[in-house]
Parts: sequence; C-alpha cells; structure tokens
Amino acid sequence: MTVPPTHRSTHRRNIALAISAVAFLSFEIAIVTPRAQTPSGSATPGGGRAFGQVSAATDPGPRGGGPGAGAPIGGLADYENQYFTSAQTEFSASETVAEGLGPRMNLDSCVGCHSQPAAGGSSPATNPQFAFASLNGGTDTVPPFITANGPVRETRYVQNADGSPDGGVHAIFTINGRTGSSTDCNMKQPDYATQLAANNVIFRIPTPTFGAGLIENIPDSAIIANATSNAPTKTSLGIRGRPNFQVSGRTISGQTNNNGNDGTVARFGWKAQNKSLLLFAGEAYNVEMGITNELFQTERDETSTCQYATVPNDTTNMAAATAFDGLSSIEKFAIFMRFLAPPTPSTDTPGGSPSIGRGSRLFNSVGCALCHTPSMQTGNAAVAALRNKAVNLYSDLLTHNMGTGLADGVSQGQAGPQDFRTAPLWGLGQRLFFLHDGRTTDLVTAIGAHSSSGSEGNGVVSNFNQLNENQKQDLLNFLRSL
Ligand code: HEC
Ligand code: HEC
Repeated sequence: MTVPPTHRSTHRRNIALAISAVAFLSFEIAIVTPRAQTPSGSATPGGGRAFGQVSAATDPGPRGGGPGAGAPIGGLADYENQYFTSAQTEFSASETVAEGLGPRMNLDSCVGCHSQPAAGGSSPATNPQFAFASLNGGTDTVPPFITANGPVRETRYVQNADGSPDGGVHAIFTINGRTGSSTDCNMKQPDYATQLAANNVIFRIPTPTFGAGLIENIPDSAIIANATSNAPTKTSLGIRGRPNFQVSGRTISGQTNNNGNDGTVARFGWKAQNKSLLLFAGEAYNVEMGITNELFQTERDETSTCQYATVPNDTTNMAAATAFDGLSSIEKFAIFMRFLAPPTPSTDTPGGSPSIGRGSRLFNSVGCALCHTPSMQTGNAAVAALRNKAVNLYSDLLTHNMGTGLADGVSQGQAGPQDFRTAPLWGLGQRLFFLHDGRTTDLVTAIGAHSSSGSEGNGVVSNFNQLNENQKQDLLNFLRSL
C-alpha cells in the first residue's frame, strides 16, 4: 500500500510518542504554537473564532456555501453519467402502498433520509419522518425520539422479550389508513413506551453515501495492511484489536467485520456490517421502506390483510425497452451511490487555510488519524473512474471498541456491543448530526464521547485535551473544512 505523506510523517513523529507520550506532545506543540495573527473579530462564516483570541474552542458549525457533494464522480463515461442521472431519480422517488410500501417502514424514499447536503447524504435539518406519520391518510403516532428538527432515526431493540439478543430494526411506521391500504389492515406500531422504559431501544442515524463507490473498491489487503501499520503507537495509545484477531508478533488495531458468507471485509454501516452497496440497497429497500426485492425476497411482516402488491415488490423488468429501464430499483440505487463523487473539502473555510493546515497536522499528531486514516487507495476497479484512485475517507473501515459511553448493546457480524466502524469524516463540514445515534450536533461533544470506560479512543482524547484552545480550534476548523 502506498503510504500517504501525511501518514508517513505521523509515523515518524509517532515513534517519539511510543517513547514518551508527554515528550511527543510537547514536541508537537513546539512546532505548531508559533502562529500568525489574524485581524481581531474576523469570525469565520460558520461562527468559528479567529485564532489568537480563543478562550474556549468551539465547533464552527456546518459549513455554509453550496453543497460540497452530490455530483457524479469525475471521469465517468457519457453512458455512465446518464445512468447516474436516471438512477438519482429512482433514489429520490417516493413509493406508494400499491408499489409495495410497508406494511411497516421508516419512510417512503431513500432520499428522505439521505439528503444533507445533497441527495445521497445524511439526515436533513427537518426530519421528514415527523410529517410522514400522517402522510396520505396515515394514522401513526410520532414516537418521542422523532422530533421535527431532530435527526432521522431508526430503532433497534437490544433484546427480545425472552432476554435473547435481538439487534434487528423495528420499523416505526405502518400503512394504516394510507392511500392504497384498506380498513382490514390494522397494524400496531411498536410499543415504544414500554421498550423505552426498559432501556431496550437504540437509535441509528443515516450515514452518507458520497464516495461510496470508492470505499467499495478498496481491496481488503489495503484495509488489513493499514490495520497493522503504526503498531507501536497504536499500542501505546490503547488502540487494539480483539485477542482472537491478533496475529502473533503483530498488533492489529481494531478489527475487520468479515462478511459471514464469503469471509471478505464488510465496510458499510455504523458497524461495518454490510459488504456492498447493492446489498445495502436491497436491505434498506426492505427494512426502511418495506419493499421486497431480488436480494430480500420476503416481506418482513407478512400480515395477510396488509399486502397489496406481488412479492418481491420490485423486480428486474425483462420486457423493458432499454437496459437501464429494465434494472430493478436496487441496482439503480447502487449505481447512483457508486457513482456519487466524494465530498469536496474547503481549503479555507472555516478559519482560513493556515488554521486548517495546522488542524490537519494536529489531527495526525494527536492520533485521530490512527483510526481516521486520511487516505486509502482503490484497486483495479471495473469502472475506470473508480480505478486506482485515492480515497480520502478518514476511516480505517475497522471496528473499534468505543467503550461503555457509546455502546449500543447490539452485535452485528463480528462487531460487538461496544464496537463501531471508524466513521468516515469526509463531508463532515456539512453534516448536521453526529455519532451513530445522532446524540449531538457539536463536534466537541462528539470528540469527548470517544472517551469512556474501555474505549480505544481514550489515549487520543487525552492527547486532544492537552492541546491549548487555539490548537483545538485549528483542529475543529480542519474538521469542518472536510
Ligand atoms: C428511514 C431512514 C432511511 C431510509 C428511508 C433509507 N436509509 Fe439508508 N441508512 C439509514 C440509516 C439509519 C443508516 C445506518 C444504518 C446502520 O448502519 O445501522 C443507513 C445507511 C445506509 C448506507 C450505508 C452507507 C455507509 O457507508 O455506511 C447505504 C448504502 C444506504 N443507507 C442506502 C440506502 C438506500 C439505497 C435507501 C433506499 C432504498 C435507503 N438507504 C433508505 C436510514 C435510511
Ligand atoms: C480508536 C479509534 C478512534 C480514534 C482514535 C478517534 N476516533 Fe473518531 N470515531 C471513531 C469511531 C468508531 C466513531 C463512531 C462512533 C459512534 O458513532 O458511536 C468515530 C466518530 C467520530 C466523529 C463523528 C462522525 C460522525 O459521522 O458522526 C467525529 C467528528 C470524530 N470521530 C472525530 C475524531 C477526532 C477529532 C479524533 C481525534 C481527537 C478521533 N475522532 C479519534 C473512532 C476513533
């Protein structure tokens, strides 16, 4: 694997850290402290402060300006671009009961949950689930964790009634009363009052899909090589693998979540639980919208009085006039996401390019980059635009034990109750809600949440906490530039 320059220099400096964390940190501070002065009061667009006068570093907030994402990746052939455009229409379409929506679902379109700052992204500022409860005659109740301005959420239960592990998605809404449904369909919504009182409900917010085709095309070998890099530094900071994933003589940080059937590295979702975009699309169509398809053929709820379409609801149309028209919707969703360009970072907003540059170096030197790997490389991909390309995702695609504070009690594949995939940070500057359950909109809180009993993030957060406020501000500006 080609080691990106940022990584290489981190590695060199991290050797010092392995010798003495304190000496290392002061070394880093020594090189970043001298700073240019900016004019006083030059607040950045997002509300961030100019350095030189920071008393307490603050999250500059979502970066303004046009969306830095949503376009197709450069270098696609004309016919691939046409597929992208048509597939985007499918991703943005709202589905009806007649088309197979439900009988249980979390919303009626992919784009409803994946729209910030553009189609394919993450949770928007106004949660569409709030209005969806009563859309088209719907009679559903809005549960307390769905609010007008809160994040889009889906729920999983930790346990079944008998105490065995559940972990599955319990869809919030039903087709009761909606256009196309009939009066003999009387679904009950999940009994959230009881489940919430029993602390049995956990939340997940949407992850963005920009650049997802690049992520899909990173070879497993690159992910594994990266896991074993910088081993002494990772060990000194407590970033580790589970014992059964340690190969003797090597330290592996985090662990891959290997696909149950073919054993290759899965990489999508909060726990890296899903192998590919097509698989995620098929599962999301059935789980989020209740629409069965050629990957997930049977209805999750087969209550006979609530079925209004043939099963699977959506299939390849062999009689279609064109190849594209004939594709089933899940193929179109996958094509759209695969061809979405990665987010474009800003070079100067917020805080100006010197601050962002310093923040980027601090991100490496305090150790964020040990999990949030700045860059990996795709392999010999079939699509030329995705072949041998840099993927500046800021993730190692591994799952790490994030401690009791972030634990959700759910296991998926080899990812256990406290394990999460290092969240890719590209596009962070225009994201609104953070962490798997959307518990915060504030980057400072999100960083603090990395630290709790048992977390592999503890050592790095402690390094972060030792930075002065100006340095923290630089780091936050860097994060919002992504
Ligand atoms: C009700 C909201 C909702 C709808 C509708 C929805 N999603 Fe998602 N999506 C989510 C959530 C929540 C996650 C994170 C799930 C997890 O990891 O547990 C997610 C994650 C994903 C991911 C993983 C991306 C990554 O890198 O982690 C893909 C791909 C995806 N969705 C595709 C789709 C497609 C395609 C559709 C339409 C068929 C869709 N989603 C509809 C909420 C939604
Ligand atoms: C031990 C590995 C590890 C280290 C070190 C680490 N992170 Fe993370 N980071 C994660 C994981 C895993 C998540 C997802 C946690 C969750 O959602 O529960 C995450 C999530 C985040 C998020 C939220 C992203 C989102 O999409 O919601 C931000 C921001 C973030 N990290 C920034 C940082 C910064 C800044 C540092 C250094 C101070 C850092 N991280 C160090 C593993 C790490």
